[in-house]
Amino acid sequence: MTIVEVTNPDKYPMELLLLADPEEQAIQAYITRSKCFVKEVDGNMVGTYVLLPTRPHTMEIMNIAVEESSQGKGIGQQLIHHAIQTSKELGYTCMEIGTGNSSIAQLYLYQKCGFRIVSIDKDYFTHHYDELIIENGLQCRDMVRLQQYI
Ligand SMILES: CC(C)(COP(=O)(O)OP(=O)(O)OC[C@H]1O[C@@H](n2cnc3c(N)ncnc32)[C@H](O)[C@@H]1OP(=O)(O)O)[C@@H](O)C(=O)NCCC(=O)NCCS
Repeated sequence: MTIVEVTNPDKYPMELLLLADPEEQAIQAYITRSKCFVKEVDGNMVGTYVLLPTRPHTMEIMNIAVEESSQGKGIGQQLIHHAIQTSKELGYTCMEIGTGNSSIAQLYLYQKCGFRIVSIDKDYFTHHYDELIIENGLQCRDMVRLQQYI
C-alpha cells in the first residue's frame, strides 16, 4: 500500500480534496494545521485524507476522497485504516469524522470501519454553506459526527 505524507504545501491534492469539501477556503484554513496523506498508483494520486489534531488525544479525519474512476474498489477503506494506524502511532486514542445526513455511502463506510454516531450538529450545512446541497435525493442539512476509540 503506497500511502505517503505530503509535506510540501504546493503538492496538496486540491482537486481530490475538493471532492469531499467544496469550499477551498475551508480546506486552506485547516490543512496548514493538519497532516495530508495521498495514495499513489503508478505515480498518480488516486486518494487522499487529512488528519487534524482537534483536542488532546483526539484526531479528526477532516477530508477523505478517492478519485471518481477509482471509487468502489476498497481504497476509501484502506485510507481510513491507514489514518487510524497513523494516529495510533502518533499516540492518539480517539478518532473522529463527520459527514452529512445525506451522505449514505459515507455513513455506511465509516460505521463499517468502526465509527459510531455520537452527535448531530443540526443545520450545520444550512448555516455554513451558501449553496443548497442535494445528495441521494435528500437535502444535506445536518452534520453527523462519528467517533471511535483506537
Ligand atoms: C467516500 C469515499 C472516500 C469512499 O471511497 P471508496 O474508495 O469509494 O470506498 P470503498 O471502495 O472503500 O467502499 C467502502 C464501502 O462502501 C460501499 N459503497 C461505496 N459506494 C457506495 C454507495 N454509493 N452506496 C452504498 N455503498 C457504497 C462499498 O460497497 C464498500 O462496501 P463493501 O466493502 O461492503 O462492499 C469516496 O466515495 C469519495 O471520495 N467520495 C467523494 C468525496 C466524499 O464524499 N468524501 C467524504 C466526505 S464526508
